[in-house]
Amino acid sequence: MIPQIKKVCCIGAGYVGGPTMAVMAKHCDKLEINVVDMDSRKIKLWNSKNLDDLPIYEPELSEIIGECRNKNLYFSTDIKKHISEADMIFISVNTPTKQKGIGAGQASDLKWIESCARQIGSYALGHTIVVERSTLPVKTAETIKSILEVHTVSIDNDKKDYKEFSILSNPEFLAEGTAIKNLENPDRVLIGGEEEEAISALKLIYKNWVHDHKILTTDLWSSELSKLIANAFLAQRISSINSVSALCELTDSNISDVAKAIGLDTRIGSEFLNAGPGFGGSCFKKDISNLIYICNHYGLNQVADYWEQVILINEWQQKRITKIIVEKLYGTISEKKITVLGFAFKPNTNDTRESPSINVCKDLLEEGCILSIYDPKVKKEQIENALEIQNISNNLDSRKINNIIFANTIEEAVMDSDAVIVLTDWDHFYNLDFKKINSLMRAPSWLFDTRNTIDSDQAKLCGFNVWKLGEGK
Ligand code: NAD
Ligand code: UGA
Repeated sequence: MIPQIKKVCCIGAGYVGGPTMAVMAKHCDKLEINVVDMDSRKIKLWNSKNLDDLPIYEPELSEIIGECRNKNLYFSTDIKKHISEADMIFISVNTPTKQKGIGAGQASDLKWIESCARQIGSYALGHTIVVERSTLPVKTAETIKSILEVHTVSIDNDKKDYKEFSILSNPEFLAEGTAIKNLENPDRVLIGGEEEEAISALKLIYKNWVHDHKILTTDLWSSELSKLIANAFLAQRISSINSVSALCELTDSNISDVAKAIGLDTRIGSEFLNAGPGFGGSCFKKDISNLIYICNHYGLNQVADYWEQVILINEWQQKRITKIIVEKLYGTISEKKITVLGFAFKPNTNDTRESPSINVCKDLLEEGCILSIYDPKVKKEQIENALEIQNISNNLDSRKINNIIFANTIEEAVMDSDAVIVLTDWDHFYNLDFKKINSLMRAPSWLFDTRNTIDSDQAKLCGFNVWKLGEGK
């Protein structure tokens, strides 16, 4: 019999938990959905009256929160209560790369997953379907199962308060900045599991807004692995096109034209062929690192080496940008003012995790320049944290703390700058007022475009020297 799901709990109110549960609440008004987190500050922000204060920015998210919050969608820190009442629990907690110990720098740190499993084991009552939503190393369900088994009290036991668990893998494929669009209309929903009834219960929820043919079912391990491989393939395309961008610059060819020409081949496809300053975001690097760790664990060293190159090219791409800027600005940027446009790892998000801007800014600061940073959604404190301003002032050169200006507008940012570098492709960077910007800068002015956002001819006409990533002509 398919279990009837009335109450859902999602552990983790982050970039995945918040938007996914919001969209589920929007389409399933009969479900009561409780998103819980141990971070009370975050929960307070999710509950803030002013929808501009939600902890994450995603287009269309605040409208859905406004519609569903406190109707069938709730944000709470009462983890025990909501686990105990739930028929289905989604685990959407962070799975970052381990920082120390065995596998440091590569393996996923599963301590948050383990703590969820222990909390669920202790507090859940009756039959509970536990859904892995976080991105996990293949075979993690085995760990969760073995923790939950300790707490299982079978229904045919004399005891009244029985506890039984079914485990599903249901990885999330949303991309930040387009999270709501991806959740409303996913390419596919993947459900892995061993028990038909549990799979059907989750399928029934998705069928409220996702067409049947887009819901794929498989076993637990194929589902867990598919998520890691999807990210590895996406990141590999970016490293491939970025490696070619460098070749274009040296051979008078143009990366956009090359990407267009190859992308029209239906076998290759046109998506994810935009060259840039390397991929950022919280997942690509961590998930490929984890894949490398798993391959080495199974003795597949050549496979591990293959995927490692994707990360190495990404790091190289970021390094070479600073080198080019220094070269173009007569070999030194010491005490020159450089404006950075864009700090988020991609547009339409305020997320800066692993943003290429971090490494490029750190490298530029090392060269002694004054950085002026503008991003429409990233707050000053986030930039300070990302650039480890405290560490810079403690360990290196205390002047550097004064070497960063956080600007509120593009005009303010570019004032007296020697160069502007576009690092995130926010929409309005496609329509920069070159004439005005150039008039505010110190001559000779430079424009470095790492995201193919600017029209070089127009910029040159307005007096700029221009360098575009991947453009040899
Ligand atoms: P996040 O850091 O934004 O949010 C995770 C939240 O879980 C945090 O708020 C944390 O306080 C909370 N948490 C951790 N352990 C907890 C516990 N035991 N009890 C209660 N709360 C707990 O992370 P995220 O970006 O949402 O990513 C979550 C998972 O989803 C990761 O595995 C990630 O790889 C995967 N993923 C992320 C994205 C994305 O776009 N960010 C997309 C697809 C998949
Ligand atoms: C990525 C995947 O696209 C999602 O499917 C996945 O669910 C998610 O990771 C995850 O597991 O966390 P995300 O990192 O949010 O999503 O954003 P992407 O659009 O994939 O961009 C990642 C990085 O690659 C960004 O820095 C972006 O600027 C860069 N990128 C992307 C390029 O440089 N070129 C491209 O053509 C595409």
